Amino acid sequence: MSTITTPETPGAAPLSTENPAATHTDQANQATAMHALEARYGASWHAPLPAWNATLDSLLAHRSVRNYTNQPLPAGTLETLIAAAQSASTSSNLQTWSVIAIEDPERKARLSKLAADQSQIREAPLFLVWLADLNRLEAAAQRTGASAEGLHYLETLFVGVIDAALAAQNAVVALESLGMSSVYIGAIRNQPEQVAAELGLPPRVLPVFGLCVGYADESRPAQVKPRLPQPVVLHREQYDAPSQQDGIAQYDDVMGAFQNAQGLSAAGWTSRSLARWRSRESLHGRDRLRDALQALGFELR
Ligand SMILES: Cc1cc2nc3c(=O)[nH]c(=O)nc-3n(C[C@H](O)[C@H](O)[C@H](O)COP(=O)(O)O)c2cc1C
Repeated sequence: MSTITTPETPGAAPLSTENPAATHTDQANQATAMHALEARYGASWHAPLPAWNATLDSLLAHRSVRNYTNQPLPAGTLETLIAAAQSASTSSNLQTWSVIAIEDPERKARLSKLAADQSQIREAPLFLVWLADLNRLEAAAQRTGASAEGLHYLETLFVGVIDAALAAQNAVVALESLGMSSVYIGAIRNQPEQVAAELGLPPRVLPVFGLCVGYADESRPAQVKPRLPQPVVLHREQYDAPSQQDGIAQYDDVMGAFQNAQGLSAAGWTSRSLARWRSRESLHGRDRLRDALQALGFELR
C-alpha cells in the first residue's frame, strides 16, 4: 500500500493514499511529492510513494545556484553547517578532511581566477574549500613516533576524498534546509598547487572541491535539473549494461528540452557529457592531477 506523511509532521504515522478517508491535505502532500519526483526526472513517476517528509522535499528540490544576492549569512551559519558536515560518517572515524572558510573578497577573487574565473566564487558571501587532509594524522604520527606507512598509498587518499565529499554534501543538505543555496566548484583542482599556496596548505592536503554558499538571486533563477531515468543507474542483483540505451536516449530528449528552456543549445546529455572527455585539453588542467598530487606530497603508491 502506498503511503505518505505530511511535510509539516515528519515522523508522523504515514498517511494512506488509498484510504478513502484521506484528507485534502494528504492529497495536496501527495501532489507535492509527485511534482517533486517528476521535476527530478522530467518524466512521470510510476512507483508507489512511500512515506514522505520535509527532508525528502528538500533533497528533491536541490539545484545548484550560480547567482547570489549580497545578503549576508546569519551569525552562526558556518558553525551549524560544519556541525552537519561533521555528523557525516567518516571512514574508521579517521576524519581525514578539513575545510577552509573564505569570506575575504580579495582571496575569493584570487581563488576565482584559479578556478576558471567563475564569478559565483566572487558573488557568494561564503566560499568553502573542502580538503582531503592526511596531514593531521601524519603530524600525530610524528609527535608520537608511530609509523604511518599507510599514509602513502592511493587508498588513503581515497579515504580522504570520500570523507571530504560526504562531509560537504551533509553541509549542502543542511544549508538548503535553511533556505540557502550552493554550487560545488570542481575547478578548484585546475591548479591545485596554486590553490594550496593561496590557502597555506601543509603537505599531504588536497583541495578536493570548493562550495559557494549564499542566498539565491531569484531574479536569475536556477531550475531543478532532471536526472537519468532510474533504470539507467539502478541495477538489480547484477550490472545490466545493455538495457541502459533506451533510458539514455529518453534522457537526451529530456535534457534537450531542459536546455532549450534554459536558452542553451539543446545538445542533450550524451554529447554534452562526452565533450567533457573529448580530449586532454577538455580536462582544463586536471589532466596533470597526478603530477600536482605528487607536488603536494602524495606518493600514491
Ligand atoms: C564535485 C562537483 C564539482 C562541480 N564543479 C562545478 C564547477 O566548477 N562549476 C559549476 O558551475 N558547477 C559545478 N558543479 C555543479 C554541477 O555542474 C551540477 O551539480 C550538475 O550540473 C547538476 O546540477 P544540479 O546540481 O543543479 O542538480 C560541480 C558539482 C560537483 C558535484
